[in-house]
Amino acid sequence: MKIIQTKDYSHLSRVAAEKIIHLIKQKPNAVLGLATGSTPKGVYEQLVLDHKQNQTTYQHIRTVNLDEYVGISADHPNSYHSFMRKNLFQYIDIHPNHTHIPNGKTDNLDKECLEYDQLIHKLSGIDLQLLGIGHNGHIGFNEPHTSFSSQTHVVQLAQSTREANSRFFSSIEDVPSQAITMGIQTIMNSKQILLLVSGKSKAKTLERLVNGFVTEAFPASILQQHPNVTIIADEDAMSILN
Ligand code: F6R
Repeated sequence: MKIIQTKDYSHLSRVAAEKIIHLIKQKPNAVLGLATGSTPKGVYEQLVLDHKQNQTTYQHIRTVNLDEYVGISADHPNSYHSFMRKNLFQYIDIHPNHTHIPNGKTDNLDKECLEYDQLIHKLSGIDLQLLGIGHNGHIGFNEPHTSFSSQTHVVQLAQSTREANSRFFSSIEDVPSQAITMGIQTIMNSKQILLLVSGKSKAKTLERLVNGFVTEAFPASILQQHPNVTIIADEDAMSILN
């Protein structure tokens, strides 16, 4: 794993956006794996800015998102569909049919998961997967003890994850208890991974990711075995490693 240390969050966002833009220039029909949460917001802002200033086009880009809550519809304000629309898709020239996010409102969850993996396969895999990391080492919604060989599947969200995400909902009771997530194997099949880590609260998590054992108890640890992972971390996140 290669580590790039940045001064702060906005520097981290610029560095990550540059890498994505570089890929888009090299491969205008690239498949981007996208994440939600607080960490990638700055990257999306930078991509929007670059699209406005430099007309980088997304006309042939396809996107697949990591995850979506179960039980809320795409137009729910807290769905990851809404998040992606609000933070990125509405501002760039991407074709709506080229953006893919699991359907959390499906009446056949198993079929939805299977078809999501088939879709990624049909797109010839993910060229670059953007990842954040949870304090407990989760990637996507793959909580500790998820099998490293998992494909897209339905997960029961850990209480700690529901608490962390309740900041976006009016109360913790409103946070869905299940989600659909790409599996760890699905993520590991990506050709390139960019993992973003920001802030002091993630410093211990990052230290464990870099120096800890590879174990299903800490899902992100498997990234140590991926051939092309770049961690972009700000000084605060690096404070224990430095
Ligand atoms: C989001 C996702 C999650 C987040 C993680 C960190 O699509 O898959 O794994 O990346 O929970 O979230 P933030 O960035 O809000 O700290």
